[in-house]
Amino acid sequence: MSLKEKYLKEANGLKKPGPFTNSHQVGWRSPSNIALIKYWGKKADQLPQNPSLSFTLKNACTETIVEYSSHGKEGLQLDFYFEGKTNPLFETRVMKYLKSIAAYLPFLDQLHLKIQSKNSFPHSSGIASSASSMSALALCLVQIEKELFNTLEDANDFLRKASFLARLGSGSAARSVFGEYVTWGTSNFIDGSTNEAGVSYTIADNNSLLTLKDAILITSKEKKQVSSSSGHRMMQNHPWADARYQQAQANFGALNNAIITENDEKFISIIENEALSLHALMLSSDPGYSLLIQNTWNIIERIRKLRETTGTFVTFTLDAGPNVHLIYKKEDNDQMKDFIQNELVQYCENEYWIDDEIGTGPERII
Ligand code: PMV
Repeated sequence: MSLKEKYLKEANGLKKPGPFTNSHQVGWRSPSNIALIKYWGKKADQLPQNPSLSFTLKNACTETIVEYSSHGKEGLQLDFYFEGKTNPLFETRVMKYLKSIAAYLPFLDQLHLKIQSKNSFPHSSGIASSASSMSALALCLVQIEKELFNTLEDANDFLRKASFLARLGSGSAARSVFGEYVTWGTSNFIDGSTNEAGVSYTIADNNSLLTLKDAILITSKEKKQVSSSSGHRMMQNHPWADARYQQAQANFGALNNAIITENDEKFISIIENEALSLHALMLSSDPGYSLLIQNTWNIIERIRKLRETTGTFVTFTLDAGPNVHLIYKKEDNDQMKDFIQNELVQYCENEYWIDDEIGTGPERII
């Protein structure tokens, strides 16, 4: 049985919560993640065309608190606050999302929700927040289910359902529900992998790739011109689509091998190939577009030059935007701070960058 079928079946028992008075609060802090093997292109129901592999960040997070009460009528009621203020645009989006998942959580129809959300990074920093915000919200929703119906006692079941629901809000959010390395999408290499939810990708405790640092270099704080949703949509008629999905499968297998064997050189060549291939797909879409700017290239050039001249483990990946994720090992922290300060901040907007690293995943705050 698919997860979709399982959750729809179980939803029959989630229609009417027992009577409860007063309002209750749940809250989760959930981090963003950065994909090393990219998800770009989807099938119906927000299912990915290829498996992806990411690591979850530590500092770039969303904190969401949901206060729920019973209003004794039919129809979900929502008040949404972003960074302490009402935000009609976000409220409409959240309402649309909640309605889209109502078949899995039918009790929402009986509730009044007051949702308060804030990010640890500035809103207009050019950092995509859909992964952290949708995962934080999904975790709160499954916690409400758990409190009202005594379901999801097992931690794995709890996180799997949160990941399934987060995916329906934003594909990459399915991965943020777990810490460290995470995969999403069916793959022969990962036991239990599925297109419907993320799965933890565990590696040996002493593997040095488990403690990577990620300096997010903000080259532009502007909102991007073409959304990820449009980008995914354009993959439907993309002339390279089939080749891309094969490339992603091959890179996934090769990266899996590089991580397990701690083959740094292979790791670097695969993740840079994935980052640049993602943007090549945008350039060759119809219409073609680029989200990269000159300073993205300036940073990439400096990173590659440093690697060539010193042999240091220093590499990069890119999101669907112009900012660069500079990836390096913890032991090189001092050298890299100097490198960022002396050579890279000049290419960042207002010299802004975020000091981040691999994190252990979401935390319950209430
Ligand atoms: O989750 P979405 O729909 O915002 O798409 C994310 C796409 C990339 O960030 C470019 C790649 C990925 O796998 O996260």
